[in-house]
Amino acid sequence: MTDIITTKNLTKIYQGHIKAVDSLNITINEGEIYGLLGPNGAGKTTTINMLTTRISPTSGTAIVAGKDIIKDSMGVRKSIGVVPQDLTADEDLTGRENLVMVAQFYDVPKSVYEERIERLLKLVDMEEPADRLVRGYSGGMRKRLELIVGLVNEPKILFLDEPTLGLDVQTRTQMWSYVREIQKKLDVTIILTSHYLEEIDALADRVSIIDHGKILITGSPQELKASLKGDVVTVTFKTQEQADIMKRIPNVVEVTDSGPNSVRIKLENADDSLPDVINYISSKELSTVKLTVQKPSLDEVFLEYTGKDIRAEEPGDARKTMMNLRRLRK
Ligand SMILES: Nc1ncnc2c1ncn2[C@@H]1O[C@H](COP(=O)(O)OP(=O)(O)OP(=O)(O)O)[C@@H](O)[C@H]1O
Ligand SMILES: [Mg+2]
Repeated sequence: MTDIITTKNLTKIYQGHIKAVDSLNITINEGEIYGLLGPNGAGKTTTINMLTTRISPTSGTAIVAGKDIIKDSMGVRKSIGVVPQDLTADEDLTGRENLVMVAQFYDVPKSVYEERIERLLKLVDMEEPADRLVRGYSGGMRKRLELIVGLVNEPKILFLDEPTLGLDVQTRTQMWSYVREIQKKLDVTIILTSHYLEEIDALADRVSIIDHGKILITGSPQELKASLKGDVVTVTFKTQEQADIMKRIPNVVEVTDSGPNSVRIKLENADDSLPDVINYISSKELSTVKLTVQKPSLDEVFLEYTGKDIRAEEPGDARKTMMNLRRLRK
């Protein structure tokens, strides 16, 4: 495996005291989809902005596609495409005009960009709205346009900062398949940040959980889930007495109450030890009403490592508030 990005103690301190990114050391492999998952203010956008040379680090550096972000920022820019967190397309132009503008910015000759733009539009099913003004686009169309704006210069690396922020679930799932298509067909390395665990689970080959500017853990979503050793069996009995007897089961990680007549049994691996649970229930002649087995989800991984519930966070809150205020003023 070849590294395409390596950061070396990459650090950003805003205004002399806000440590947004704190000595980050990560490696991203060529061809993978790498996710940065973290709550509001974790340092995701700041990291992306440094790697894409939009802002300079306070200390440390990174090598992106073989170029140093500080010593050769122009070299870095030639190899990357960026889809920023905020919407960037010009609303008074059509989708195609936006793409042409970017192609011209990168000095792509017309003979090359016309065909390339056509291919990109097709890749995300945007041929039909391509010649309409962006102003009239739906949220999903806009995001699809921005996705390919990042690809006009045929980058080796594509950065997606919150690619599905604010989209409804169905449109979001659709975006995931476009991202997968892009990675497969265009052979790019993709770095994406997200608040959505399902998104990281569905897309990322590897993910780092980031909080307070530091990486807490890195691995494939499967590895992270397995690292919890936290399969959970929930059993509901006919009576509370029976539930209390169940609490004395030996050789499990933990047993806790879980609502009326119910216990929550944590096992290292349910595949191995579920039979022991069942045997214990029958040896004590307990009558069960319900039994469920749950493998840990990325939510639980996130909670374990950050101590926070990501569902409580809603990205872009500030923006929503602003938009609502604007609407009220009208
Ligand atoms: N230009 C800036 N000036 C001062 N502080 C900043 C600036 N940009 C970001 N910060 C602060 O740096 C920290 C990291 O912010 P950043 O935007 O990188 O986080 P994030 O993980 O992208 O968050 P979100 O999920 O909300 O997009 C936060 O505490 C934020 O308030
Ligand atoms: Mg951000």
